[in-house]
Amino acid sequence: MFKGALFDLDGVIADTAILHFKAWQQLMRTHFKIELPLELETKTKGVSRNDSLQTILNFCEIKVSSTQFIQLAAEKNTIYQSFLTELTSTNILPGITRLINDLRVNHIPLALASASQNGPLILDKLGLRHNFAAIEDPSQVKHGKPAPDIFIAAANSLGLDPIDCVGFEDSIAGITAINTSGATAIAIGNATELKAATIVVNNTDKLSFNTITTAFIEAHK
Ligand code: G6P
Ligand code: MG
Repeated sequence: MFKGALFDLDGVIADTAILHFKAWQQLMRTHFKIELPLELETKTKGVSRNDSLQTILNFCEIKVSSTQFIQLAAEKNTIYQSFLTELTSTNILPGITRLINDLRVNHIPLALASASQNGPLILDKLGLRHNFAAIEDPSQVKHGKPAPDIFIAAANSLGLDPIDCVGFEDSIAGITAINTSGATAIAIGNATELKAATIVVNNTDKLSFNTITTAFIEAHK
């Protein structure tokens, strides 16, 4: 039986994943008159702010100075945070409140393993922060997703080995990170895109305690 649950945030707990991309689109439109194609969203999902900006600049074949890079990253965050002002518990994805309750009833502690530095702010706005025994600060881990660091740190903060945990993710980078950490990867999204996970559900509403237990057993066969 698994002993801990490690959560990504954007696209797993809250419907905020697309807001990151909308903020990048607005930034690139304003500064470079470029319309970012939606296909880039998959490549920036789960990836840190700076790594996302670098991916976008590479895609657009734009070179900027280090000062401009810092300014662009900060401005993206200002745009993103302006989208968050309206965020409330209505933005919790379907089935997540039920899942959190099921985990509590079964005495499974929760840790947040999000690449977002806005994680604590978002959990507060959703009214979910008290459910988390640990919230990892992504600026304190050496390597961002797809490296496993934040999932290892999250498990360790719960006093656990990742091997005894399940991890929830909606991004390719995040699934790679969970798998490398040794935890059992549970993906939410496209089954082809996220096929490296132990199980993939197409919607958070499909995440039941039973499904997760089955996935954990499957991963440890
Ligand atoms: C999450 C999102 C990414 C975002 C990253 C950093 O992983 O999926 O799209 O780039 O967090 O978020 P932040 O709020 O720190 O810019
Ligand atoms: Mg995510």
